Amino acid sequence: MEYIIFIILAYLLGAIPSGLIVGKLGYGIDIREHGSGNLGGTNTFRVLGFKAGLIVTIADILKGTVATVLPLLFGAEVITLVIGIFAVIGHMYPVFAGFKGGKAVATSGGVILGVNPLVFGILLGTFFLLLYLTKYVSLSSMVTGLVTFIVALLLGEYGLAVVIAIMTIFVIYRHRTNIKRIMNKTEPKITWM
Ligand code: G3P
Repeated sequence: MEYIIFIILAYLLGAIPSGLIVGKLGYGIDIREHGSGNLGGTNTFRVLGFKAGLIVTIADILKGTVATVLPLLFGAEVITLVIGIFAVIGHMYPVFAGFKGGKAVATSGGVILGVNPLVFGILLGTFFLLLYLTKYVSLSSMVTGLVTFIVALLLGEYGLAVVIAIMTIFVIYRHRTNIKRIMNKTEPKITWM
């Protein structure tokens, strides 16, 4: 029964629309009406600048971490990973923002941070290396998911690997329009790296 409570809590945590809150309260702007229209850290960086982008990205990561660590503190080890997935679902389809949310990247990272900080460190390194090489946030996010899945397998973290596989499928699914833009060569590249 307590698992159901943690699952609902994880969904509600994930559903907190950080990008919308920071955009509307801090700048009077709904970031879903600007840039890529995505309610996530990357689009916040793009539309509102570095400070807002950083706040939203960290908040989105923490949603996944808190949702995962909370049940751990109450001794629900086995199911913790599965609970993290519900935070990611909340982030993608937030009840507090008309079910129009983000692309699962930061919150998935937060789930991994809550379960295995070493794998999270490898994830961060991989992401920034790919970003340096490709200049595409979207492509770097998707490939990082695949690399992190392989890393978890190599470390013998099979439960985590399954959850990373599920989250990476979410990430790729939510990047359908980005994939089309990458193929058309119309996906924006970052210019600061
Ligand atoms: O985290 C989402 C990122 O990978 C792509 O965002 O706004 O460029 O579609 P965006």
